[in-house]
Amino acid sequence: MSNKMWGGRFSERPDEIMEEINVSIDVDRHLFAQDIAASKAHAAMLASQGIITASDAKNIGKGLDTILSEIGKGGFAFKRALEDIHMNVESRLSELIGPAAGRLHTARSRNDQVATDFRLFVRDVIDETDAALAAFQAALVERALEHAGTVMPGFTHLQTAQPVTFGHHLLAYVEMAARDRGRFQDARKRLNESPLGAAALAGTSFPIDRHATAKALAFDRPMANSLDAVSDRDFVLETLSAASICAVHMSRFAEEIVIWTSPLVGLIRLSDKFTTGSSIMPQKRNPDAAELVRAKTGRVIGALNGLLIVMKGLPLAYQKDMQEDKQGAMEGFAALSLAVRAMTGMVRDLVPDAAKMKLAAGEGYATATDLADWLVRTLKMPFREAHHVTGRIVARAAEGGVALHDLPLADMQAIEPKITKDVLGVLSVESSVKSRTSFGGTAPKNVAAQAKAWAKRLEKERKLG
Ligand code: ARG
Repeated sequence: MSNKMWGGRFSERPDEIMEEINVSIDVDRHLFAQDIAASKAHAAMLASQGIITASDAKNIGKGLDTILSEIGKGGFAFKRALEDIHMNVESRLSELIGPAAGRLHTARSRNDQVATDFRLFVRDVIDETDAALAAFQAALVERALEHAGTVMPGFTHLQTAQPVTFGHHLLAYVEMAARDRGRFQDARKRLNESPLGAAALAGTSFPIDRHATAKALAFDRPMANSLDAVSDRDFVLETLSAASICAVHMSRFAEEIVIWTSPLVGLIRLSDKFTTGSSIMPQKRNPDAAELVRAKTGRVIGALNGLLIVMKGLPLAYQKDMQEDKQGAMEGFAALSLAVRAMTGMVRDLVPDAAKMKLAAGEGYATATDLADWLVRTLKMPFREAHHVTGRIVARAAEGGVALHDLPLADMQAIEPKITKDVLGVLSVESSVKSRTSFGGTAPKNVAAQAKAWAKRLEKERKLG
């Protein structure tokens, strides 16, 4: 026979190149656990609906368990000639239990099978990513609490803007990760419906119970439309978009680590654990992990782009193009997982140079806004005018090559006679950050409170499991 599954209609073997382009086992073998779980649920349902006998269902279940353990132990011979995971499992099942294996495929198709398997797989990916992001947040929160009062330069346009605290900067990423987790959870809600039982595209004439299989696989409900169930891969696209946004967050943080560890900047140091040396330049300490996080982002976004392009021209229902949904997505998810774990490791590892940070925070007239705010508050000057006066004072300080707080009071008074020595109180970087007590602002008190609130929230979440 040319093919065990559809040999009735075929008399010739496939061409070698046909087999090569058609085969998907190298990729979809990663769905083995989901495939077996879905088959077990299907077989049990067939029996309880009286579609197959209880004894056949029992043998099928036992055989599937054997296959699961064979694959788990690495003792399963995946065959390329059997194309994909579904046919590899079914073929082995018939070796193990004989003709009863042939009853498993009643009232289903590989089309609903693969859609079910991949939904289960992506659901697991979401749960793992959520846990990894929670660990990333916990690491950030711990360091933020430690550095709630460590002053560093805040940047816009990568120019020194205003002093902020290092803890505040780290907590920004905690917020981003929280939204990332929210996006994954949203995707999970929409993903969690079962395609199983949609069969090839039209449903089936057998009296199946799709609610039962949905429940057995912890789906919220069966998908309502059999054509939709086998046709759409929006659950992968949606999860990949959440993954892409998350990867972009990781990449931006990684980029900051690359900048901060450059000897030109030197705001933080990474240990030997997260750096590499150079084979020729003995002095080098390269932030390879951060650079690779930046680069892995390309893989994640690439996977999203790739699948959008695969899907965009496909009429309903299943088309073989859709077999190409898995490789890029699996690689993209793996890349993100690695990126999140590497960032978590670097957050725990990095050591800020507090003295250098403080010095840098005061450079570039970073407290100029504090001076302008003082003019508004104390002299009741309109902000626009205060901005102008401060600009002239900064220009004077720059001419003399001194920092704002080192500029003689007389020089300031030459520009605005009403300025008093009280102004000196707002020109240090410490007083600058301390004054920023507005909601969400960088004041160390705010930052410590935020970090504590996050620590509590994450702890509570962890306890709830
Ligand atoms: N290996 C296929 C995939 O991943 C399974 C579905 C095949 N269905 C079919 N009608 N050829 O999409």
